[in-house]
Amino acid sequence: MGKNIHYEESVDSTQKIAHRFAYEDVPEGTAIIAEEQISGRGRMDRKWHSPKFSGVWMSLILRPNIPLTKAPQLTLLTAVAVVQAIEEMTDLVPEIKWPNDILINGKKVTGILTELQAEADRIHSIIVGIGINVNQKPVDFPLELQEIASSLLIEKGAPVSRADLIRSIFTHFEKLYLLYLDEGFFPIKLLWESYAVSIGNHLKARTITHTIEGKALGITDEGVLKLEDENGVIHQIYSADIEL
Ligand code: BTN
Repeated sequence: MGKNIHYEESVDSTQKIAHRFAYEDVPEGTAIIAEEQISGRGRMDRKWHSPKFSGVWMSLILRPNIPLTKAPQLTLLTAVAVVQAIEEMTDLVPEIKWPNDILINGKKVTGILTELQAEADRIHSIIVGIGINVNQKPVDFPLELQEIASSLLIEKGAPVSRADLIRSIFTHFEKLYLLYLDEGFFPIKLLWESYAVSIGNHLKARTITHTIEGKALGITDEGVLKLEDENGVIHQIYSADIEL
């Protein structure tokens, strides 16, 4: 992982470059890293604020031989790798909010965006985008994010080396990815659940069309969230914003 790194000072989005490279058949594990993104993308077509020299803005190209339906598992695997890297680099306690937000002291420090290139029902490439707020100060965040987002610097009270953090992500990612290819999702799921804040709690899931409230029971083997509403009906949530 990360043996082939494409580094850019300023890009519109590392996802966009990764999509282009993936079609050019670059080796699996290629990483696109930028100092700054002008049009960083988040989930649900949101913008991802990616100012210069202060975060990790990176996209990885993967080509696992798995069915399309299992692609969300890679998002969860990535979240575990990033949590382990943050733990290695700081004494902070990161938690995962389904499906892919990493929170520290209740504020979001990391987002993961997984996008697919598929041919019929086969995966050509999976592009995993990782955005980590590393060395931003509170004033570096737009006003509307100041209450809900944070950075490692703010939470730790000291700067964190982005290069070391990236190296640590590669190490943890590679270990987990090899484990996943060897033994499947189960060991990853156990690790993910050990870091998850949402499981066992009452929460609201806002999908594009409606909101479901209930108790989070866990995730399925595909990484789908299971939510039990007040009538005992179990809903499977594929994509939503979660309010804890
Ligand atoms: C989210 O909405 O939580 C996901 C945010 C993902 C941001 C990363 S930064 C690197 C990569 N390039 C992008 O444009 N987005 C992802």
